Amino acid sequence: MSSIYEKLVKKETKLAVIGLGYVGLPIALEFAKKIKVVGFDINAKRVEMMKNKIDPSNELESSAFDGCDIEFTANIHDMKDVTFFIVAVPTPIDASNLPDLTPLIGASRTVGKVLKKGDYVVYESTVYPGCTEEDCIPILEAESGLKFPGDFKVGYSPERINPGDKVHTLSSIVKVTSGCDAESSEQVAKVYELVVTAGVHRAASIKVAEAAKIIENTQRDVNIALINELSIIFNRLGINTYDVLDAAGTKWNFLKFQPGLVGGHCIGVDPYYLTHKAKQLGYHAKIINSGRYVNDSMGFYVGKQTVKKMIGHGVNPMESKVLIMGATFKEDVSDIRNSKVVNVISELESFACKVDVIDPHADSEEVKHEYGFTLCEKPTNDYDAIIIAVNHKEYANYSEADLRKMLKSDKGLIVDLKGIYKGKIKNLDYWSL
Ligand SMILES: NC(=O)c1ccc[n+]([C@@H]2O[C@H](COP(=O)([O-])OP(=O)(O)OC[C@H]3O[C@@H](n4cnc5c(N)ncnc54)[C@H](O)[C@@H]3O)[C@@H](O)[C@H]2O)c1
Repeated sequence: MSSIYEKLVKKETKLAVIGLGYVGLPIALEFAKKIKVVGFDINAKRVEMMKNKIDPSNELESSAFDGCDIEFTANIHDMKDVTFFIVAVPTPIDASNLPDLTPLIGASRTVGKVLKKGDYVVYESTVYPGCTEEDCIPILEAESGLKFPGDFKVGYSPERINPGDKVHTLSSIVKVTSGCDAESSEQVAKVYELVVTAGVHRAASIKVAEAAKIIENTQRDVNIALINELSIIFNRLGINTYDVLDAAGTKWNFLKFQPGLVGGHCIGVDPYYLTHKAKQLGYHAKIINSGRYVNDSMGFYVGKQTVKKMIGHGVNPMESKVLIMGATFKEDVSDIRNSKVVNVISELESFACKVDVIDPHADSEEVKHEYGFTLCEKPTNDYDAIIIAVNHKEYANYSEADLRKMLKSDKGLIVDLKGIYKGKIKNLDYWSL
């Protein structure tokens, strides 16, 4: 009898991707160059866009859809010939920083409704170790009436893509795969090998694969938090963090992390999944939580430092005007989810500063919907301070004269969070993290 992999390759059966966002759409299109794919999403508006070769996440060109054997749908019945399901729905946190599994549970219910004997379900969403087995499989069983692992197999294969990164793409990053037994582990690996030219790493178990993903982002978060804390200390010492990092970075084993705002849907979110699981197991994670605290506080810290410096210039915060350059959660992307620039704004506004925000990548409507303010089309020329919050490539070539034109006076302040103008600003007051 043919294996699940062989049937997919012979195009006798289909693979479905559930949730076509930043992660789901690229993987669906990549598979659709080799096998038959169904792209399923609950958002009918997004499905319509993809049918017209438009990526709703603004990451892919329409040419990425060319030559793909894929059917986009919001109709569950279109998945009846599917034998291999990949779930790539969001895994956010709620207002109390606790895992919000609503999309994952919803997607598991959807899959459970069309699951048949012999099918495979592989989760790609970032979760805490244990989530696939404890939270998802019972839903698949309940909805389908089938029994795991006899009737269907489950795997976990985390996504490592980095939005805006054109070098580290899906096919060029080694992918961690796993299954619920030796056979499924091999089948899942073989299916992913169809599209990941860099190869796959067969993890020892689903829980190991889940843990591997969550610690990749937790390690980054904790390391950035350390550098953020150091930058607070260096500020008190009156030395520039980037000068210190340049010096320390000459040692072969010094890790090159930079200070900054940690937002977005991965680094600033995933560690909370791990600390939640640790707490359930009776362990209060200290280092991870401290890192989260430091990073979540940075936006407010930047706002306060800006106000202090403006007061030092004799500016009354209540009469001040500040320009923030950049609203997205990181450089060169349009994604504003969990952007910590919002904390900088709210801190400045708590001192009654007037704040303008510009961003060449973010969508003003979306910003309004998410955070309640709009973006300025053009900066004015009467700012007391300019905060370069995100190092978009468009900002790289600004000269000191360009920045001066937007400031009210020669005493204007430049707050350069990522240190992109270090060494370039000679006359204006300059501060970076
Ligand atoms: N964005 C990244 O760079 C990245 C990188 C690595 C891992 N991840 C992880 O991958 C997962 C997906 O993230 P994303 O950024 O692609 O999310 P996203 O918000 O871009 O997209 C999610 C898509 O899923 C759809 N969706 C939501 N609930 C659904 C449901 N019940 N059924 C079907 N579709 C549903 C939405 O309509 C949307 O189109 C998350 O767990 C995330 O942590 C993301």
